[in-house]
Amino acid sequence: MTATAQAPAPVREAIVATGVARSFGSVHAVQDATLTVPAGSVTALIGPNGCGKTTLMLMLSGLLRPDAGTITVAGHNPSTDAAAVRASIGWMPDQLGSWDNLTCLQTLTLMGEAYRIPRATARARGVDLLARVHLSEFAERPARVLSRGQKQRLSLARALVHDPGVLLLDEPANGLDPRSRIELRTLVREFAGEGRAVLVSSHVLAELDEMVDDAIFMSQGRTLGDDAAAMVADAKTKYRVDALEPQVLHEALAAYNVPFEAQEYGAIVRIDDAHKAAQALAWLVQQGVAVHRFGPVGSALEQTYMAMNEERR
Ligand SMILES: Nc1ncnc2c1ncn2[C@@H]1O[C@H](COP(=O)(O)OP(=O)(O)OP(=O)(O)O)[C@@H](O)[C@H]1O
Ligand SMILES: [Mg+2]
Repeated sequence: MTATAQAPAPVREAIVATGVARSFGSVHAVQDATLTVPAGSVTALIGPNGCGKTTLMLMLSGLLRPDAGTITVAGHNPSTDAAAVRASIGWMPDQLGSWDNLTCLQTLTLMGEAYRIPRATARARGVDLLARVHLSEFAERPARVLSRGQKQRLSLARALVHDPGVLLLDEPANGLDPRSRIELRTLVREFAGEGRAVLVSSHVLAELDEMVDDAIFMSQGRTLGDDAAAMVADAKTKYRVDALEPQVLHEALAAYNVPFEAQEYGAIVRIDDAHKAAQALAWLVQQGVAVHRFGPVGSALEQTYMAMNEERR
């Protein structure tokens, strides 16, 4: 395994933020953000353009000072102990400024040295990380030759160079091709598996569904808390069932005594969990209902997002 694969010391709640606010003049970018991100898990940060996601992440990473509220990252306060927070956090900004004349490996080595990692160790870690993000062939090439998606991957490697326990990824899938997106998903799950806490913002909600353990919704500078969590949980209980003869399906569902909405193609059925879904499907098949599709209605995060009061700034 790579040097980065050593699990950092676990902190149960890696990020805790309470009542965080930040304004730019008269623009109240973040008004009241409260969230926790546990170690060993991936949490999504979701909300419309301009709702304050990037501003919140900048405050969590210690790059921007909050006007109000408290933040703890890996047990440290970014306002009073910025150095400790920087050492424990990996920040992947939404737009990478790269040093165009440096090679990819030089970029990572230099970044590692900035974190006081000895040059040889930083270089070895850079080699490992470039392999991990599939950029090994670009190790000795200047960053300016990289495509947009490749720059994104270099940015991800850069966030990991000091082996941080907490990762803040601001729209990491931006500009990635389909294969790179799938690989990013796998990598992000690996990071969590290594005990890291990951907070990831994205507008591609269907993609987040498969990547995250939990989601935080933001609207107009505020985190939505339990209301949104309840909506996500509710959305996860909707299953779509398609049958060759919908009428037969409706009769069978009525007899099974499960809540459903009849549809032309079949039904939307309320089922609490995967275990009960398996039982319901087995029962329907046993009753001779010709089911040709059975599964969750779609992205629970997307449904929740669309149900939220949509606003754009
Ligand atoms: N440095 C700044 N000066 C003035 N206003 C700012 C500054 N940074 C952010 N804002 C404003 O704060 C609000 C929140 O911006 P932010 O970048 O945090 O949104 P976001 O949720 O990340 O949006 P997006 O999905 O488009 O990335 C916006 O109205 C933005 O115009
Ligand atoms: Mg943003």
